[in-house]
Amino acid sequence: MGGLRPSGLHLNKPVVFGLLGIALVVFVVTRLYMGGGLAGTAASGVFQIAVKSETKPPAAGRGMDHVVNASLLESPPAFAADAASQEEQFKITLGDKALNVHVVQMIRRKADVTNALTVLFLHGASFTSKNWLDIKTLEHVANWGYRAIAIDLPGYGTTDLTDESQPADFLTAFITAMGMKKVVIVSPSMSGSYSLPYLFKEPKSSTERAVGYVPVAPVKTGEFRQQYADSQLPTLIVYGTKDRRGDTTTRDLMLLPKHEVAPIDGAGHACYLDKPDDFHKVLFYFLKKLSS
Ligand SMILES: *[C@@H]1O[C@H](CO)[C@@H](O)[C@H](O)[C@H]1NC(C)=O
Repeated sequence: MGGLRPSGLHLNKPVVFGLLGIALVVFVVTRLYMGGGLAGTAASGVFQIAVKSETKPPAAGRGMDHVVNASLLESPPAFAADAASQEEQFKITLGDKALNVHVVQMIRRKADVTNALTVLFLHGASFTSKNWLDIKTLEHVANWGYRAIAIDLPGYGTTDLTDESQPADFLTAFITAMGMKKVVIVSPSMSGSYSLPYLFKEPKSSTERAVGYVPVAPVKTGEFRQQYADSQLPTLIVYGTKDRRGDTTTRDLMLLPKHEVAPIDGAGHACYLDKPDDFHKVLFYFLKKLSS
């Protein structure tokens, strides 16, 4: 019996140390793969943010670069209220068909808009061009000295429905027919199915089709993730901090190299309707930067 005990200990020691060793290896490997190591060593800031925002919306100011905070921006100039508006049914040709597009244009009477930016406003699925009149966005933009244009997309408001299956072709046809120069596209929600393919199907030439882009939580951002890196289009990513979809769209669009992010505090999906003043401030900031 006395001879068995030491031999028992002799057997157990390697087993115990072996188990401890395996536990240590498992612990180290798990830590590395669970992101503790990744967050500390990621070479690219974008990648680091993407990893973090898997679980959290990209809250402004926390590890996010290029944040534009509306409450820290200067207020746009006082309303001059001399903007003239014009509404028309503008005829374009799409494929071999004629299409009537409802267009609202606003230009400040006293301003020289020869070389001014043209800001083209698209709309979400619940809206039409009227939403930009309701919150006076067109009037503001015109008063700042730019051309402001809002349209009803095909099948909305009084624009004809089209069976054209390529939404990008609609924007190409419209922008060409209007002879628009220096276009900045403001594109909320559903209208992403127009603006994103128009701009990023061929990302390298995106800067020939627009000079700026203001996506407001648009749909379809995931479809162009491979293309964004090849575009140099200056982009202001706008989203409401209470919009659950804003998380994904912002993360996708941050792959655009020339982006800035403007979270609208306490606003939902249609953040421009919830907080029009904040929206107008960040838009004013971006347009001024583009035209300087
Ligand atoms: C903007 O700045 C204000 C005041 O400093 C702060 O309370 C707010 O959280 C900021 N908003 C964002 C979206 O960073």
